[in-house]
Order: sequence, then C-alpha cells, then structure tokens
Amino acid sequence: MTVSLKSLIEEWEGIGVVMRYDRQTGTWIFIALHDDTLGPPTGGTRMKVYPSPALALRDAMRLGAGMTRKWAAVDLHYGGGKAVLAVPRILQGEERVGLLTRYGRLIESLRGTFGTGVDMGTTPDDMLVISQVTSYVHGVDRETGQTIDPGPFTARGVFAGIRAAVKFAYGSEDMRDRVVHVQGLGDVGGPLARMLKEGGAHLVLSDLDTRRAESLAEELGDTEAFEPHTAYAAPCDVYAPCAVGATLNAESIPELKCRVVVGSANNQLQEPEDAGRLFERGILYAPDYIVNAGGAIALGLRSRGVTSQSEIHERVDAIGASLAEILIEASAANESPVYTAERVVERRLKR
Ligand code: PHE
Repeated sequence: MTVSLKSLIEEWEGIGVVMRYDRQTGTWIFIALHDDTLGPPTGGTRMKVYPSPALALRDAMRLGAGMTRKWAAVDLHYGGGKAVLAVPRILQGEERVGLLTRYGRLIESLRGTFGTGVDMGTTPDDMLVISQVTSYVHGVDRETGQTIDPGPFTARGVFAGIRAAVKFAYGSEDMRDRVVHVQGLGDVGGPLARMLKEGGAHLVLSDLDTRRAESLAEELGDTEAFEPHTAYAAPCDVYAPCAVGATLNAESIPELKCRVVVGSANNQLQEPEDAGRLFERGILYAPDYIVNAGGAIALGLRSRGVTSQSEIHERVDAIGASLAEILIEASAANESPVYTAERVVERRLKR
C-alpha cells in the first residue's frame, strides 16, 4: 500500500497542514494542525528519518490527532497538532541549527497558530535554538535560557498509570511481585525503568540499541535485557511500550504474554481494531494519551505560569486516578478502555 501526500490531505479531517521543503538540508517539514476547539494546536516536534515524505506526513497527522485527545483528557486549554521534521539523515552541528532556525521562523510566521516543544528525536537544546526566533515554544524560559525536559514528567505519569492498572488487575499496587517490560529506554523509558526499580518491580528491558538495554540492566541489577525483535513476546505482568507507535497490532497482540499494557509511546495501536483484539485476549490496555500526558501537563502548566514543582507533580500523579476511573467505567460497560476514554474526550470537545 503506497500513501501519497495528495491522498493523505484529501482524506484528513483535521484543520490543515503547513508544509515546507528545506532545500539546504533536504528536510520535509510538516505541521499537522488537527483541532483548535480547546485552544491553539500545540504539540511536540519529532525529528526522524522516514522512508518517504508521505509516511512522515501520516505520522504528523496521527500524532496531531493524538494531541487533541491528550489535551482534552487533561483539560488544559490547548488544541491538537504536531510537527515532523523528516530529515534525510541525523543532522548535527551547524546544519541542525540552520534547519531548526528556519523551522522556528516558519512557526513564528504562524503567529501562534501552532506551539511546539520536545518530542522523539529533538532535545531541550533544540528548543532553545528555536526559541531564538519564535516565542511559540514550550519548555524554554526565554529570559534565563533554562529548559525543561518533559521526558521525566511523562515517565512519572506512566508510573502512576502502571500502579493504577496493576491495582485494578491484581488488587494491590505493590510493585514488588510484578514484572514490567519497558520497551525503549530513551528520554521516558530510561527514567521510568529507574522509578519502577525503586518501587521494587522486577524489570525486563529492551531497546533497538541492544547495548543500551544491556548496560541499564547491568546498572540496575537483577534485570534482564531482551533482543528488540522478540521483545514484545517477553513474559511479564506489565508491558510498557515507550518507543515508536504501532507496536500493538494484528501480529504482535496474539504473541503478548502480559496482563496489562501501559506505556508512553504515542499511537500504540496500529489500527482501531487492535483495541478489540486486546480486549478479547483479556489484556487490560491503558489508552496511551491518558497515561502519557505527564510531559504535556508539565509544559502546559509552566507556560501558564505555574512554577511550583509540587503542584505540577500533583497534576501528573493524578493521571493514576483518571486512569482508574476509566478502567472502572470500562469494566462496568464490559468494553475496551479505549472506548471509555474516547467518550471522555468527545464530551470535553462538546461533540
Ligand atoms: N512531545 C511530548 C508529548 O507528546 C511532550 C509535548 C507535549 C511537547 C506538548 C509539546 C507540547 O506529549
């Protein structure tokens, strides 16, 4: 199946797409503006090498739609949008700064129609570069040059979500009897693994970069590292996908050996039918945008002038209670939590 830019744009139900080709670096820039019912479209900037520009646009669109749900679920007044910088290779040094500066100017030209921050492949330092030319960046204090990394906040929210789901499934949130598989040990999966270890959980780790998984496993002790291609079939209680999306699909779901899925990756289901596939297998699935909202909460609150760390932590920890509510309602309705969460979102968007 080949997707084209034309068909993606024709079929999209979002507000629109801003596109630009950066000739100097050979990068396609896509800003997918999905929904502004609750506020200006706001979402991270992903930098990645894609097989084609159309696949990059498709990712931006899917991620933008996810941001609409995420903001609605946490009741912060932003809308859904996401940007993708589809680079031909990983850029460094001056080339990277040049691209980010031109991209920042593009954002500035939109005069607030889109606000951005860190996502997979970009760093707080990249946001600092962008902030030199536009104010529509979250996670950078433009006066002091201080940056906030949303990753550890996202990890904190996922940790709260895991405890809530474990309590729901096993009747106790004690992590000491639980085995958790953290897949992807980057900016979120790394801190999450440490929090889980501290909470007493047994860990199974995997990452595309096998060495990264092995060295963290060694550091944490009493921890197994798995090869990335067989990782989803690792026996565990909780599977926490913390890398790319679509790891839950028609091929992987029958292979899963877990009771619960709670992770930080955006768009974990490859297609809507995967919610039903998990439900039929009796695997409890925590909707991704409910549990991975910690970073968005932190950046959103900071931009609204909230500086108290404890207040931000409290809001992030509340992800546990929101998830518990959804799981209880879903079980009463005998449905996948995906549908329950969708209803919460639709209500907030007043559809
Ligand atoms: N990219 C992260 C996410 O998907 C953090 C982020 C949230 C960045 C909101 C910018 C705006 O949640």
